Amino acid sequence: MSNFEIPKTHRAVIVQADTTVKTEERLIPTVGENEILVKVSAIAINPTDWKHARRNTSPGTILGCDFAGVVVQVGPNLRVPVKVGNKVAASLRGGVDKERGGFAEYVKVYADLAWIIPEGTYTFEEAATIGIPLYTSVIALYGPNGLELPQPGDVNPPAAGTWLFVYGGSSSVGQYAIQLAKLSGYKVITTASKRNHKLVKSFGADLAFDYNDPDVVKNIKEATNGSIRLVYDTISEDYTYPLILGSITEEKSAKISVLHKPDPETVEKRQDIRWLETFIYTAYGPTVNTKNNEEERAVLSKFLWEKLPGLVRGGLKPNVIKEFDGGLDNVGVALDYLAQGKASGEKIVYTL
Ligand SMILES: NC(=O)c1ccc[n+]([C@@H]2O[C@H](COP(=O)([O-])OP(=O)(O)OC[C@H]3O[C@@H](n4cnc5c(N)ncnc54)[C@H](OP(=O)(O)O)[C@@H]3O)[C@@H](O)[C@H]2O)c1
Repeated sequence: MSNFEIPKTHRAVIVQADTTVKTEERLIPTVGENEILVKVSAIAINPTDWKHARRNTSPGTILGCDFAGVVVQVGPNLRVPVKVGNKVAASLRGGVDKERGGFAEYVKVYADLAWIIPEGTYTFEEAATIGIPLYTSVIALYGPNGLELPQPGDVNPPAAGTWLFVYGGSSSVGQYAIQLAKLSGYKVITTASKRNHKLVKSFGADLAFDYNDPDVVKNIKEATNGSIRLVYDTISEDYTYPLILGSITEEKSAKISVLHKPDPETVEKRQDIRWLETFIYTAYGPTVNTKNNEEERAVLSKFLWEKLPGLVRGGLKPNVIKEFDGGLDNVGVALDYLAQGKASGEKIVYTL
């Protein structure tokens, strides 16, 4: 326990019945087994936040997944060596629980799903961007229900010149996916709007194509000799699958990691393909309304504690940040911005 003076109440962003959000006063959450309490310094906004407020509306819950700050209290039986005073970032499923949510002055989270920010590397704002986008990419690329690729630094890297197609490289998820794929030893081909090609190349993409170009499928196939067998679709909408299916190998060996399973008609077209679906919250430990997958959680936690600090020290780049003003009281502005599809190659963050 800490000597730090923890107040009895704090402010948190609460989902309202009319699907808006409002900052309200709440009791400070009580930490249990393997939990830590973090005094939050910065939060980052994801599309899932507006979807939880507007579509899966659960009134009275605390919204928000991704945050960074300082540990002020630790519970018993921690799975990892985290201490009061450590600077950490973490992610959880927001918008489902009245006590646990990321857009708040104080957040409780499972210790093994936080990570310690190495001194002299990321700011709190940069560290907050790691949450959903990087965690999802870890599970989609390396998890037991994902592509199960070699991880950065593994003894058995892929054969030289193996392509990995990251669909949607300029998205927050895509920016980390490109970097992890390169660190794992793949050649990366990606799609993004033309204006973001320089950006995706700065993250390491070898080739970038504009998904709005009518010749995109032909161009990708030519550039790769129709040899793509591994795909990670970071957008995963009905309109993304035809482009992917047209661009990849015709042999029966392709694996596509998706964030939403395509409709049965799409799956029917190529029954030989292995569609591997990631729903990141299943890796987040016991959570309201969410199936818990301890195997995925173990893969994620091991990555956060054994690989991520080294990668951050070694130059892993955070998402490109766009900072909005107004802290917790103004989160609704970012939710609108994302819901209207305005985010392009950028991550909205708030400093508290
Ligand atoms: N299942 C899960 O566990 C899970 C986890 C994380 C995220 N997701 C979902 O994955 C999606 C991406 O999340 P995010 O945080 O990365 O979003 P984001 O950063 O807000 O995405 C914005 C980006 O999407 C790109 N984009 C939009 N339409 C596109 C298209 N048709 N083809 C290619 N790129 C397109 C834009 O690229 P340009 O500006 O270059 O055009 C833009 O840079 C969201 O729908 C999110 O809810 C699901």
